[in-house]
Amino acid sequence: MRLFAQYYNTMFVNNLGDNLILGRLSSMCRPDNVFLDLCCGSGRVLAFPLKQGVKAVGIDNDPEILAVAHNYLQNMGHSNYELIKANALDLEFDSRFKIATCVSHCMSFFRGETANQRLLERVHKSLIAGGLFFMESYELPRV
Ligand SMILES: C[S@@+](CC[C@H](N)C(=O)[O-])C[C@H]1O[C@@H](n2cnc3c(N)ncnc32)[C@H](O)[C@@H]1O
Repeated sequence: MRLFAQYYNTMFVNNLGDNLILGRLSSMCRPDNVFLDLCCGSGRVLAFPLKQGVKAVGIDNDPEILAVAHNYLQNMGHSNYELIKANALDLEFDSRFKIATCVSHCMSFFRGETANQRLLERVHKSLIAGGLFFMESYELPRV
């Protein structure tokens, strides 16, 4: 809770709390771990694990924003990433990721009990043992 309070306080004045949360999550990864960002948009979150030498996978259902993400990450000199055009609700991975994120209030795209449950079950299946899912939401998902 203390970490959340810090995050909350810095969210609007310090890069949306990026260094605090995303940097810390990335630093929990070993070099062979993989970091997943759901609703990755223009690739902002993916840059954090990549900067720390951790492979990153971004999922978004909009091919245009994925092209923006690709340019953004390439321009930063990164290549150890994968961008997948898919609905996050159709996530089909088995024990692959150490960290999964869904931030910038993107959990709001998954409204209602059925969608929340489906997303959480699929994220859970996609994590390795000891993996961690960090999400940001205006409202708590009801599962
Ligand atoms: C606010 S932007 C992403 C911001 C990004 N998470 C960040 O923190 O910089 C929201 C993105 O969610 C994507 N999106 C919305 N619903 C989705 C879904 N069901 N599956 C995958 N991506 C989705 C949109 O295409 C859009 O690029």
